Amino acid sequence: ETPRSDAFVFFGATGDLAYKQIFPSLYAMQRRGHLNMPVLGVSRSSWDKGKLVQRARDSIAEHGQIDEHVFAGLAEHLEYVAGDYQDEDTYRRLRAALGQARRPLHYLAIPPGMFDVVARGLAQSGCARDARVVVEKPFGRDLASARKLQAMLTETFAPESIFRIDHYLGKEPVQNLLYFRYANVFAEPIWNHRYIDSVQVTMAEAFGVQGRGSFYDGVGAVRDVIQNHMLQVVSLLATEPPPAGHPDAARDAQCKVFQAMCPVLPQNAVLGQFQGYQSEPGVAQGSKVETYAALRLDIDNERWTGVPFFIRSGKCLPVTATEVLVKFKPLRHAVFDTASAKQATGAAAGSQANYFRFRISPDVLLCVGARVKLPGEAMAGETVELAAHHQAADEMSPYERLLGDALRGDPALFARYESIEAAWRVVTPLLESGTAPLPYQPGSWGPQQAAGLTAAAGGWHDPQPPDSKP
Ligand code: BG6
Repeated sequence: ETPRSDAFVFFGATGDLAYKQIFPSLYAMQRRGHLNMPVLGVSRSSWDKGKLVQRARDSIAEHGQIDEHVFAGLAEHLEYVAGDYQDEDTYRRLRAALGQARRPLHYLAIPPGMFDVVARGLAQSGCARDARVVVEKPFGRDLASARKLQAMLTETFAPESIFRIDHYLGKEPVQNLLYFRYANVFAEPIWNHRYIDSVQVTMAEAFGVQGRGSFYDGVGAVRDVIQNHMLQVVSLLATEPPPAGHPDAARDAQCKVFQAMCPVLPQNAVLGQFQGYQSEPGVAQGSKVETYAALRLDIDNERWTGVPFFIRSGKCLPVTATEVLVKFKPLRHAVFDTASAKQATGAAAGSQANYFRFRISPDVLLCVGARVKLPGEAMAGETVELAAHHQAADEMSPYERLLGDALRGDPALFARYESIEAAWRVVTPLLESGTAPLPYQPGSWGPQQAAGLTAAAGGWHDPQPPDSKP
């Protein structure tokens, strides 16, 4: 058991990430009685505590109802430290504002270009002693910069005190991928190349870059979501069962999957850019940054050789939804629904393969695609979905959960550094290929060329809007 952090410091207090994620998470923690420590926002702007509290109120109001009693409790913890990140004095004042706190957690909600300066400032002022640090994905922008970043952070922080956040790992339905696999006797025996034909992971977003143009144009879909969120999901789908009660063993197993992932060759990927992207504020004219990526990933180990993992994500697609489809092979011996039986009954052609469909967002669903007999004389059937809807009351948001874990020093839902290196290796050929993205119509499923990737596996499975039939 490591001691809990005794203060929460967030750099970039006036920024977007603080507004969207940190304030609502802090408020939720306060409501649950989990936030009994100073909370210090740091930024360059010459704000004061009053302004920070107002910003927190705006953010929380936008995300839900404010309970004034809870908010007052949160406001009491909040302090603001104004200062240039280059200036030693900023860190001296931060140290003073920390008061009795000796084991702060520092959340770097700032551009990665500033990490170096802030880490040094924290080290020199004593603010980094016994401290933890949280950094956002993507960790670096390629293998070389990830290594540099890790080397830089470990100069100041112990390796076990560095928490690399990937909020997908904090999602309930993403954790359920593991639970479902290991808690059901029927899952494990068929969870391999002998029974699984292909796996698809689609993260579709019906919106564009939403004012984040200048950030996004330096990143693109592969760095923004494929290298991290999507590969993390794949690693959970593909990992080996670890011994019970050893969170480290689970992360080791996950790391081994990352290391078994083959680098994605450019011919196994299609990159796209939605038409109109270049007129978004902050986006460069002639930008070659991809807003869509689809690819085939292979995992080179005993369990998965020969099973393609198709991954796809894009902006301005027809829906906002994230889904995993695990498709099984056809029966080796078909008794019913054989070609001749179908001809006799006139049953529609279509895939009869069983599947699991895991809907991650916006709604949460777990479906088993199974064959059942249609009423009538013929032994002919149809595919139905046996579905479990997930309805949680008062669920933690991924950020609330992960910040709580980081404060307790629990690394289970944070990426191992070695996994991140391996994930960069997977996408390196793609990043280095320099292929220009293909244009696609906003509201379409991306460049048509992507169909070629899944053609032999039955095509892409397109997630539908919530509350519509699959
Ligand atoms: C973020 C990406 O990490 O994840 C965004 O930077 C993306 O571009 C977002 O929209 C999606 O997260 P979620 O939880 O809404 O699926």
